[in-house]
Amino acid sequence: MYKKILLTGVNGQVGHALQKAFLKEASFAGIVIGLDRSQLDLTDQGAIRRAVQTIQPDLIINPAAYTAVDKAESEPELAYAINATAPQVLAEESAKVGARLIHFSTDYVYAGTKHGTYVEEDATQPLSVYGKSKLAGEDAIRSVGLQHLIFRTSWVYGAYGKNFLNTILRLAAERDELRIVADQFGAPTSSTSIANAVLSVIGHWQHALTGTYHLANAGQTSWHGFAMAIVEEYNRIQMAHGLPLLKVSPENIQAISTQEYPTPAVRPANSCLDCTKLAKDFSVTLPDWHVALIAELQAIT
Ligand SMILES: NC(=O)c1ccc[n+]([C@@H]2O[C@H](COP(=O)([O-])OP(=O)(O)OC[C@H]3O[C@@H](n4cnc5c(N)ncnc54)[C@H](OP(=O)(O)O)[C@@H]3O)[C@@H](O)[C@H]2O)c1
Repeated sequence: MYKKILLTGVNGQVGHALQKAFLKEASFAGIVIGLDRSQLDLTDQGAIRRAVQTIQPDLIINPAAYTAVDKAESEPELAYAINATAPQVLAEESAKVGARLIHFSTDYVYAGTKHGTYVEEDATQPLSVYGKSKLAGEDAIRSVGLQHLIFRTSWVYGAYGKNFLNTILRLAAERDELRIVADQFGAPTSSTSIANAVLSVIGHWQHALTGTYHLANAGQTSWHGFAMAIVEEYNRIQMAHGLPLLKVSPENIQAISTQEYPTPAVRPANSCLDCTKLAKDFSVTLPDWHVALIAELQAIT
């Protein structure tokens, strides 16, 4: 098992969940050095190299990223600096100190035109600057040739952080009606599920295993289906405790098309990920998205 883990982006959804999961994991005897943006700015290549050389970790986990999908369209240089150049530098430094690297990527590397779920070998064709910058980060890590795992995940949310779940809960408490896109499909994936899966993977990480894996909660839905489930399950928990319900009711959540909700970045219509490879190589499967949602809501309410 690892003695010293360098973890980036600890104030992000996945970074925060990972730090929490390591603290709770009784069998983990090493130390996790978690750094936020103020302690390690990934736009500063020199700072990345110094941090790795000073800490000398045996594992680096990099959930930090430029994740503002729409803003990336007007800030491509910053998105590439954080999502492509920084992972390359982290990979180079990992190789120098003999550390393994775990990195996260996205369902948005795909075009979304496939019928059925995507497997890791499917052609990538990102539609947005964000997706392109994340794919460039993957390629950069692969080009360094160290032992690594790249986890492509999707629709990340959780009790902690800025995400669709917290946005819907806020809007549903304020408004009588919501209009949510119903023609983009994927798997909402909780940060807790990701962290638990990563900890299990680390425990099964044999020397021969390296490469890219899909890692997402099981099942699929649309953003509209996700919003409906959030409101229904939140209300169910509130009702069980005799607490007030949300202002919006599920029948007032209107299904709209992507065309009716234009955004600067184009998103894939289908970004459902097949996670069979993760199950086969690591014996790790993530729970169904709806089950994970209920667990996350119970942490909020
Ligand atoms: N969110 C999603 O829906 C989603 C979907 C698919 C894949 N992913 C991938 O999953 C991974 C984890 O995402 P997440 O949802 O946890 O993202 P997140 O909540 O947006 O967190 C990203 C973290 O990166 C940090 N960061 C941004 N710029 C930085 C810089 N220059 N230097 C150091 N840190 C910086 C942020 O710092 P601050 O807290 O200071 O802003 C934040 O803590 C990422 O690789 C992302 O691309 C996410």
